[in-house]
Amino acid sequence: MSTEIPTSMKALVLEQFGPPEALKYKTVPVPKLNKPTELLVRVVAASVNPVEAKLRSGNIGSFLVKKNAILGGDYSGSVVAKGSQVTEFEIGDAVFGTLRPPSGPQGSYAEYIVVDLQSDKGIAKKPDHVSFRDAAALGVAALTALLAVVLKAPLPLKYNGQGPRPKVLVIGASGGVGLYGVQVGKAIGAHVVGICSSKNASLVKSFGADRVVDYNDSEAMADLANNEKESFDVLFDLVGGEYYYKNFSPLVKKKTGVFASSVGPVAQFGSSKAGVFDYLGVGAAYAYRQLFAPCRYAMTLNLPAYKIPTDILYLLEQNLIKSYIPEENVFTLEEGYKAHQKIESHRTVGKIVLNISPDDFEK
Ligand SMILES: NC(=O)c1ccc[n+]([C@@H]2O[C@H](COP(=O)([O-])OP(=O)(O)OC[C@H]3O[C@@H](n4cnc5c(N)ncnc54)[C@H](OP(=O)(O)O)[C@@H]3O)[C@@H](O)[C@H]2O)c1
Repeated sequence: MSTEIPTSMKALVLEQFGPPEALKYKTVPVPKLNKPTELLVRVVAASVNPVEAKLRSGNIGSFLVKKNAILGGDYSGSVVAKGSQVTEFEIGDAVFGTLRPPSGPQGSYAEYIVVDLQSDKGIAKKPDHVSFRDAAALGVAALTALLAVVLKAPLPLKYNGQGPRPKVLVIGASGGVGLYGVQVGKAIGAHVVGICSSKNASLVKSFGADRVVDYNDSEAMADLANNEKESFDVLFDLVGGEYYYKNFSPLVKKKTGVFASSVGPVAQFGSSKAGVFDYLGVGAAYAYRQLFAPCRYAMTLNLPAYKIPTDILYLLEQNLIKSYIPEENVFTLEEGYKAHQKIESHRTVGKIVLNISPDDFEK
């Protein structure tokens, strides 16, 4: 069963590792369904995550990236063909999700993708009130927030208003993941504190932070470090490195709290080429923190993609989570290299999205 599908499509192809311009806008064949459990999705929007820039440059995971790979994990779009065993989705359904891993070879920086429901559990029907633009942004970032704030903690997703109010600290609160982290914290009824620069303070508050602390204000940072020891259930670290770990891990409740880092012991790990010794150094620092941190220390790896059709959808349907994608963070597929230039700045506010099908993007 299928609608009319072209034989070729546009995609960003990585012929060899390199700077953002290594993403080449090319015409390639539309991928074909090979299994009865697969869907063909016409992509309307795809989001760009820091990991894809790290993969593109060859700084990390170069063994994962095949020659002429199409990178990209997160997407929104419409089902245009399906295998004979697919019962959960119909042709024409609007969907969103994330392909794991985002290293390709047939990723979402393309007009069409194949989703195998047997292995790609991170797909759900898009609620009507959420645009393709906003749905594409969720994937990796919202799952990371859910993993850190709810699953690693563990704190209940469905807040019943009973018991003491949890406390969540989000470091890097204005970024792609951070704004979802703030909202997930709010959704579970937590008191949320966000760390960001003063220029992003009002935005972070508008997404639900009860308080923000400017990381350039040394007095405010010292106040936080000295006066709120062992009071947080979750510290969600989106910057990594030594400074926040050393100064803020004592803020986490010793027995029940978690220092959940999406980056790990090296700040912006993967922004430069990581060699064997770098991995060994990270491994050793991670092991050290596991053993000697004043609280539980956890990395947010192995994202729970299967939570998109349940928990992420629940948060969307309850209007507990939304995406923030300012206009300057929207790029066409052809301009995908500019999206990578931007994500590498480490100054992105909210999410970056590729507008692949302009007619449907805002629908
Ligand atoms: N392990 C995983 O599964 C996983 C998943 C997702 C993301 N990650 C990693 O998590 C990190 C964050 O991802 P992201 O998508 O949120 O990145 P992002 O959007 O690039 O984050 C940029 C934000 O970080 C803020 N920031 C930069 N330096 C800061 C500092 N020293 N203190 C506080 N805030 C700071 C910036 O705010 P200002 O401009 O105001 O400084 C900016 O808003 C990346 O390294 C990414 O690779 C890991």
